[in-house]
Amino acid sequence: MLLIVGSRREGNSYNLAKYIKENLESKRIYCDIITPGNQNIHLCTGCMDCDKNGVCDFNDDMKQNIDKIINEKTIMFITPTRWNLLSGDLKIFIDRLNPLYSKDALKGKNVILVSIASKGKELYSSAAALDSLVSFSESAKMNIALKEEFNDCLVATDILNQTDKMNALVNNIIKILDK
Ligand SMILES: Cc1cc2nc3c(=O)[nH]c(=O)nc-3n(C[C@H](O)[C@H](O)[C@H](O)COP(=O)(O)O)c2cc1C
Repeated sequence: MLLIVGSRREGNSYNLAKYIKENLESKRIYCDIITPGNQNIHLCTGCMDCDKNGVCDFNDDMKQNIDKIINEKTIMFITPTRWNLLSGDLKIFIDRLNPLYSKDALKGKNVILVSIASKGKELYSSAAALDSLVSFSESAKMNIALKEEFNDCLVATDILNQTDKMNALVNNIIKILDK
């Protein structure tokens, strides 16, 4: 599974990704984590060349990211909630997936979506951030296999206090990957 982390700090998103990776790999399920914010990724210029030939003119880390996505049946996004939306790093990454969209290469892939917010579940922050990932996944015709929200995560390690929820998520991910 390919896990895409939307925050560049070693915070809640990364700590959750690391927890999932350690648990999956203890069951011999390979898991790759990428953090687009710490990679070299140009902003999409909107030239639309990729709509014609399915290739982006930029030569940067998206080449290897796109190869990885092509080879994965299931990908997972973890976004911190930023102004009730997905993170800017993930938006930049998603824009650069247009070469895959234009070839229908995302269609039918399983996607697991997680949002993390500092505010409580009763507020719409994490839900709205998750919705932005849902909206992307639906327009790319991906199969949304699982959605989850984590709340009350402000300090970088707050999520590590939610082991029951993290374990439930890991178990659900394993069920999806076993299918
Ligand atoms: C620019 C910015 C905007 C944020 N907006 C929200 C928000 O709208 N709602 C919320 O609950 N938390 C918000 N937060 C807090 C983060 O979602 C929260 O701290 C999250 O755990 C950060 O994930 P990370 O530790 O992986 O970076 C914001 C943080 C930043 C830096």
